[in-house]
Amino acid sequence: MKNNSTWWIRVPVIFFVIFGLVEYFIDSGEKPAFIEYPIITAFMGLVLLILIAMEIILQAIENVMFNTLNDEAQKRYLERKSKKWEWTWGKNVYTKLLGSKPVEEEGEIILDHNYDGIRELDNDLPPWWVYMFYATAIFAIVYLVRFEVLHDYTQAEEFEQDMAEARAEVEAYKRTAKGLVDANTVELLTDAGDLSAGKVIYEASCVACHMADGGGGIGPNLADANWILGGGIKNVFNTVSEGGRDGKGMVAWKQILKPLEMAQVSSYILTEINGKMPANPKAVEGDIWVDPDAPARNRPVDAIPEQASDTISAVNDSKTVTVN
Ligand code: HEC
Repeated sequence: MKNNSTWWIRVPVIFFVIFGLVEYFIDSGEKPAFIEYPIITAFMGLVLLILIAMEIILQAIENVMFNTLNDEAQKRYLERKSKKWEWTWGKNVYTKLLGSKPVEEEGEIILDHNYDGIRELDNDLPPWWVYMFYATAIFAIVYLVRFEVLHDYTQAEEFEQDMAEARAEVEAYKRTAKGLVDANTVELLTDAGDLSAGKVIYEASCVACHMADGGGGIGPNLADANWILGGGIKNVFNTVSEGGRDGKGMVAWKQILKPLEMAQVSSYILTEINGKMPANPKAVEGDIWVDPDAPARNRPVDAIPEQASDTISAVNDSKTVTVN
């Protein structure tokens, strides 16, 4: 008996489909389920065995049945089995869409022209082409009405919207990826783990000049409210990253520390060192720093008039310049 069965395709395909479903439905974290749970491996082994057993049983049954048939039935059976499988519906649609005449009927559509023996057929336009043409025509009408008559939205608006979405996505990503901070996006870290990591960095790299309690030495006092280069997480991060003024001795730590580490050490300084009383405080340097984003009532009272008068004199100055 001719054996054209395709068990060697069927068994692996069914096996991997079951395997894929198992992996999809069993939550096994990062590792594949069959490594995480050995029982799954055993189960898959069993599945494979059952599949093979089923194939063997089916073949055996087919053999037995075949042998019980009489000669003519056997012949018919083999004929049907070896007939090539065809997807008739798909094939019909395909020929319909092509719309070409079978070669035998070409005589009906041949044109009179005869160019040195070359004749021309008057074929209909192929339906696939005609349907596509109708589709584009309908699309054009809908498009025209929607965008040129009703002015639904312009390409510029679409662009703005896409850009806004993209910006929101980038922001969301930056929030989850702490390591991507820079001086504009850095936020004060409050996590105990971040602060203790900051402490380790501070003690390894900064105490030599700023002292363990921030009292100051070669570098300025970090515990007081006065800052030479500006307080608040963004300024402090910027100072740590870019360094102090030339020749003062504070290097740009961005070459040595990662962004996250700079955020950690900056947060450590602002949370654990700033505002405490060091044992040997260095004299204050720089100005008292006021957070421009803080609600007005939290600002030190004396800071407000000073700022205001600064602004006014600046305006006056610029006026004088313009007049001259
Ligand atoms: C070699 C000595 C030295 C080391 C080490 C050092 N600093 Fe400094 N630091 C300075 C000096 C000097 C300044 C003042 C810079 C200026 O006046 O421009 C300064 C300024 C600063 C300021 C700004 C203070 C202000 O008043 O605006 C911060 C914040 C700071 N350092 C943090 C750090 C951190 C964090 C580390 C460790 C990663 C560190 N420093 C390591 C010497 C040092």
